[in-house]
Amino acid sequence: VLAAGGIRDILIANQVVGERKVRRLVHLAAHTDVIVAVDSLVNVRALAEAAAERNVCLGVLVEVNIGNERCGVEPLDDTVAFVKALHARRGLRFRGLMGYDGHLAFVGEDERMRRSVAAYELLVATRDRVVEAGIPVEIVSGGGTSTFRSAAQVAGVTELQLGSYIFNDTTYRDAGLSEFDCALTVLSTVISRPDRASAADVAILDVGRKSLSVQNGLPEMKSPAGQIFSMPQEHSRLRLPGPTPLPAVGDTVEIMVRDSNGTVNLFDHLYALRGDRVEAVWDLPGRGKAT
Ligand SMILES: Cc1ncc(COP(=O)(O)O)c(C=O)c1O
Repeated sequence: VLAAGGIRDILIANQVVGERKVRRLVHLAAHTDVIVAVDSLVNVRALAEAAAERNVCLGVLVEVNIGNERCGVEPLDDTVAFVKALHARRGLRFRGLMGYDGHLAFVGEDERMRRSVAAYELLVATRDRVVEAGIPVEIVSGGGTSTFRSAAQVAGVTELQLGSYIFNDTTYRDAGLSEFDCALTVLSTVISRPDRASAADVAILDVGRKSLSVQNGLPEMKSPAGQIFSMPQEHSRLRLPGPTPLPAVGDTVEIMVRDSNGTVNLFDHLYALRGDRVEAVWDLPGRGKAT
């Protein structure tokens, strides 16, 4: 999707594994400058063979585990050995290292800064060891929305890979990320104001967990005031500040997004507003392509 949109320098900050996916990746590398993360020699072999067969050169970053305990080769010696095993392979071009510290996103600000700086210092120390082994390292990539400041202050980190900051969301806002406004909201229609006495302050909305990610909890209202207290698949129950005739059936309400990553992936279009004016409607052709 990015390549079709004209982007010529693409980092896939993840491993691409499996014959069909590797074939697609190599096909992409024939058309644009693409770099992919690697952390296993089985995958390295598959990528190198597919690239060499097609006569293309695929960029690779070695992912290093800097504490996130997800993907990644262990830092220092293990990474040096891994880079030695791949850097001269036909079909591949070793470009550098990457590390990601998503495990620190929700720890307190001071501790996050301290531990994140230490994590990127370890990544840079690993780079130094690779360079000492005689292999040049062009890229040291890392950082997320909650740790881009720490990553940026470590000398030797050459690029940042934050994503969620584009919209921000109320989860990151509550974790103390105040640099970016929460820009993503979802409009919903009031489809019922039940008559029963117990629901005088309740409105039912036509949006549920099929349209809004509730991974980090229920979303909050932007307008009108009120609290969503339950969200089944296709509805929400909104409690209003008091018994009130408004909003009425058919009215539109606006909901702040709690998990922008998980929500943007559920829609075909994004309406870009400046003030009250819709300035653009953007298609989201990347949605649904999570695997
Ligand atoms: C490897 C990697 N880099 C960067 C990011 C971006 O993080 P954020 O969305 O917090 O900016 C992610 C998010 O999952 C990631 O997995």
